[in-house]
Amino acid sequence: ATTPAIAITPERSVDEITGSRRLRRMRKADWSRRLVQENHLTVDDLIWPLFLMEGSNAEEPISAMPGVARHTIDRAVRQAERAAKLGIPAIATFPRIEQSLRDETGSHALDADNLINRATRAIKQAVPEIGIITDVALDPFTSHGHDGILRDGEIINDETVSQVAAAAVEQAAAGADIIAPSDMMDGRIGAIRDALDRNGFQNVAIMSYATKFASAFYGPYREAIGTGSLLKGDKKTYYIDPANTDEALREAEQDLAEGADMLMVKPGLPYLDIARRLKDTFAVPTFAYQVSGEYAMIKAASANGWIDGEKAMFESLLAFKRAGCDGVLTYFALDVAEKL
Ligand code: PBG
Repeated sequence: ATTPAIAITPERSVDEITGSRRLRRMRKADWSRRLVQENHLTVDDLIWPLFLMEGSNAEEPISAMPGVARHTIDRAVRQAERAAKLGIPAIATFPRIEQSLRDETGSHALDADNLINRATRAIKQAVPEIGIITDVALDPFTSHGHDGILRDGEIINDETVSQVAAAAVEQAAAGADIIAPSDMMDGRIGAIRDALDRNGFQNVAIMSYATKFASAFYGPYREAIGTGSLLKGDKKTYYIDPANTDEALREAEQDLAEGADMLMVKPGLPYLDIARRLKDTFAVPTFAYQVSGEYAMIKAASANGWIDGEKAMFESLLAFKRAGCDGVLTYFALDVAEKL
């Protein structure tokens, strides 16, 4: 039998091949790895989303988000205190509104004493040192779970914008520091900025959910705020198609021109390319929302023993920093802050 002529020794040595460059040199020890680490996750990068519900001294677990619960306002105040103690700069609140208070137009969003506004007042009073971000959108308040006024199967843009701007003023009046419009209607940022300024809230900032995609990763959130079973159809006529990048840039450019102080990318991990492009193009404060489905995936795989949940949590959050984000809205915030 003849031996095939396969040369097993390389003709050139590794040093000849690499020109003596060896990238592993700096990876050899923990100290050298730390020395060259380019991105760092700190507690200052964290925004903690908190779910609210009516009642007192109670909480309800959200089954698709292990470790996350809805809190009554008094309990939410305690949670905000915990976050502030750990140095988390800001929380973001999301209400689960009773079915009886929901209607076709989401009118309860404008009530100065609705759940979200009462929570803001209570948290501001007890924990003045933490920033409060309120999501302004109609979906927690509509009987159909859409972010806009629905008429004859269509989401009516301009009427929704007026409604959302009025809701934003009530949120600012309650003490919100940052208004975060999440409905993707055209013209909402400018309308909210005008409404805030006209009512004396020049110092209330706007974090625009500028690039919000029509995503499958919001499922557990809809359970959390009780819209899951209400929502008919999808949100494709107002959220961005997951296939598009240039369109996301145009959205961000438009929102900045209308007065947004900060941009947000949502969901997070599947959209890191968007975060990087926004940061490189506009160089403004840019945030990502690691949404409910992303959280649920890490938790579920970890519960099955398929991944190390804690390592995956840190790695996923560091990835946002690498992509250029200034911070992350994450359900892991408290957990991470405790471990940092
Ligand atoms: C809608 C809104 C959504 C989330 C927050 N506000 C998306 C949606 O329900 O369509 C999702 C947050 C998450 O999934 O963690 N205004």
